[in-house]
Amino acid sequence: MEIQLSLEFLRVVEQAAIAAARTMGQGDRHKADDVAVEAMRKVMDSVPMDGTIVIGEGERDEAPMLYIGEKVGAALHNKSHHYPSVDIAVDPLEGTNLCATGAPNAIAVLAASEKGGLLHAPDIYMEKIVVGPSSKGAVELDAPVDDNLKAIAKRLDRDIEDLVVIVLDRPRHEKLINDIRAAGARIRLIGDGDLSAGISAAVVGTGVHAVMGTGGAPEGVLTAAALRCLNGQILARLVVTKPEHQERLAKMGIQDPKRVYDTEDLAPGKKIIFACTGVTDGNLLHGVRFFGQGVRTHSLIMTLDQRQVRFVDTVHLEKRPDAKVRFA
Ligand code: FBP
Repeated sequence: MEIQLSLEFLRVVEQAAIAAARTMGQGDRHKADDVAVEAMRKVMDSVPMDGTIVIGEGERDEAPMLYIGEKVGAALHNKSHHYPSVDIAVDPLEGTNLCATGAPNAIAVLAASEKGGLLHAPDIYMEKIVVGPSSKGAVELDAPVDDNLKAIAKRLDRDIEDLVVIVLDRPRHEKLINDIRAAGARIRLIGDGDLSAGISAAVVGTGVHAVMGTGGAPEGVLTAAALRCLNGQILARLVVTKPEHQERLAKMGIQDPKRVYDTEDLAPGKKIIFACTGVTDGNLLHGVRFFGQGVRTHSLIMTLDQRQVRFVDTVHLEKRPDAKVRFA
């Protein structure tokens, strides 16, 4: 079931990425997101599943498609057939600004699991620290930055000065950035996209050793789904600053707003599938390439149960079946 669905989800993220990539650099982040959402939603309808969106574009009243609680998949149209029940978390375009400006690392993302396998996180901020398999268990969310960096450097058998930490370039991270600089590690400040940064931290050879700071909670859950498959670790805590946040947490069944979540708390599923396709060129994935005879996409598909991590290079020739395919 997982293998078949993972190939279906590959189609979903590929089409979302292609649609978004067509808008690259046009300076219109809303349009970029809208076309990705629409493409994702359309392909999802043919996926053989009884799907429920648990992380999506927002609440029903604020998002026309892929809203939380929306039913998706072929079960919608064929009531007589029994399809597997699947919880779905999506970010049709992670890095809307990155796509709108043609900057690196915009991706289209989907994670799925059996029912209850992905935390229903509200769309608020989350404090996060993300590391790869070598540093799993060595860091703590509340430890001094210097201690975490020493622990990561030790696990990676190198000096702190050799580490690269990705941080979202935001005023709220001023102290964090100063602390990382004081410890001697190198920093890559990014404009957006702490989800793709988190995935990179768990893949050896990307030159990224950790991600630190506060970003979106939905991105945190999606990062956790990817890290379950890659054996990395995310530690996180929701940032609750307003009474309305508290109400939303209660509605979503979250009792303790100060809880520190580990990877398996955010994505506890046993049958997690994670799929993403590059929209713009990035650390891990090429962006969508359009050429006269077709379209080429680069994706990452992972299945936890099967323990498979696949990088998929697809040439789409639907419109030009007689086209020539070039090696790489
Ligand atoms: P969008 O894809 O919605 O533009 O979000 C991108 C992102 O940078 C995430 O990667 C990150 O978690 C979040 O926004 C940070 O939020 P903010 O821009 O409010 O600091």
